[in-house]
Amino acid sequence: MGEFRMEELSASNVVAANSLTLKPGQEQFIAPVTYAMADPFLDPTTTWSRVAIDSEGDVVGFLLANFDPDAMDEEFRSCIWRMNVAAEAQGRGVGRFIVNEAVAEARRRGFERLTVIWESGDEGPEEFFLHIGFRVMGETQYGEKIGAIET
Ligand SMILES: CC(C)(COP(=O)(O)OP(=O)(O)OC[C@H]1O[C@@H](n2cnc3c(N)ncnc32)[C@H](O)[C@@H]1OP(=O)(O)O)[C@@H](O)C(=O)NCCC(=O)NCCS
Repeated sequence: MGEFRMEELSASNVVAANSLTLKPGQEQFIAPVTYAMADPFLDPTTTWSRVAIDSEGDVVGFLLANFDPDAMDEEFRSCIWRMNVAAEAQGRGVGRFIVNEAVAEARRRGFERLTVIWESGDEGPEEFFLHIGFRVMGETQYGEKIGAIET
């Protein structure tokens, strides 16, 4: 059995998901400008929201992905829109687990790649994404990195 499992975002876990803490300095990286600008246009019927639960039953991470084959921009078709891991649970493999689950879901839906947009910076997620296999395929108009991983 794995150490973590995914659960659908629901009334029973949404408060815990919203209460996840970040480490100092990480707040500014949680929503790159490109996603923040596109947030109002995100279609609830194409999103996939999940929480990661540890073996104690605690919510330790959150994922919002978007799977929309008709999205105008390629980087919005099969992507991680938002993810974060509780400050106290970081460094234990939760982030890798969440990405693996998102990759598997993308594959199930027939997408060949999963993308994510991040901002470079000391407390940002760049090293994490590169370490687990994303490669940079371009930049947004705001200078953020667009990363992709094959499913
Ligand atoms: C980025 C984030 C999701 C990583 O989650 P995590 O649970 O700490 O990551 P993991 O423990 O699964 O790490 C997986 C691997 O990446 C490596 N890694 C993680 N963060 C790293 C960093 N900052 N620098 C270098 N390597 C890093 C780990 O060492 C681990 O390597 P290993 O498996 O070879 O031992 C987490 O730090 C976070 O929530 N950050 C704030 C929110 C954020 O920036 N979200 C992204 C928005 S686009």
